Amino acid sequence: MQPLEIQATLDDLHDKYRPLQAGTLATYIPELALMNPESFSICIVTADGQCFKVGDFQQLFTIQSISKVFVYGLALAEHGREKVLAKVGVEPTGDAFNAIILDEKSKRPYNPMVNAGAIAITSLTKGKDPTERWKRMVSMFERYIGHETVVDAPTFRSERATGHRNRAMAHLMLNFGMIDEKIDDALDLYFQQCSLAIDCVDLAVMAATLSNQGRNPFTGVQAVPSCYIRDILSVIYTCGMYNFAGEWAYKVGLPAKSGVSGGLLVVVPGRMGIGIFSPLLDERGNSVRGVKVSEEISQRFGLHLFDCNHQETS
Ligand code: DON
Repeated sequence: MQPLEIQATLDDLHDKYRPLQAGTLATYIPELALMNPESFSICIVTADGQCFKVGDFQQLFTIQSISKVFVYGLALAEHGREKVLAKVGVEPTGDAFNAIILDEKSKRPYNPMVNAGAIAITSLTKGKDPTERWKRMVSMFERYIGHETVVDAPTFRSERATGHRNRAMAHLMLNFGMIDEKIDDALDLYFQQCSLAIDCVDLAVMAATLSNQGRNPFTGVQAVPSCYIRDILSVIYTCGMYNFAGEWAYKVGLPAKSGVSGGLLVVVPGRMGIGIFSPLLDERGNSVRGVKVSEEISQRFGLHLFDCNHQETS
């Protein structure tokens, strides 16, 4: 893969899929319904720090569910595998991301990528008060991104005012002793992490950091201990695209995570990170253009993890 070939591919895919208007904006968080449906950007950052981008890649959007990937890494780093696994499983659900459901037997949420699991993971963040917990979390995100970042306050307020399903899940988990009593603090922290403002380049840098054993390719900063990269990538490989995860694994064959504001993070282990932003979503909450572009990038560059030839196939 030569640099010129990568840039030409991104330009071509942007031209090809810009006219695709299928899908709808997420409206259950009122602030997200105000997004520009035309926004569309693609960015690739390689593990050795080359950057390729096309479209309105400076447009800020909220990270939403993609934050769950990184907060899961933080929980592993702060508590270790055993404690985290005791609270949240690693099993794909086949249900929607916001399903109010726990594992019947263990009472754990199924995995850290559905909302229930993510809220339980967020509740594990260490710190003596909400300010300290947020500081730990935001500095973790900044290690991946490589610069300072802020919360989009209107989105935070919008989600906090309307997040009744998430509150219901938190109460259910409290009932079963899976999270502690400070559920309002945990929910606020969760709504804050989801409202973090990033652009498409940030997204690709975060993906590239995961592809590079947790080390940011531009700053050299270790964002998460490298021993937890395998945990993060295997969970997003099986659970990152929700009830589309099987088809995604079959067609694209790469660990990935989507968010309802239209972001899509794709990791090519050892090689590169891909960020795509386009807010029109399919019925499972995945970006329509994001899925199409990922399928083509994987196919054109032969990136499917189980493609023995690593060559284009039809
Ligand atoms: O909790 C929620 O519903 C949102 N803050 C995040 C959901 C999300 O991004 C699901 N992804 N496709």
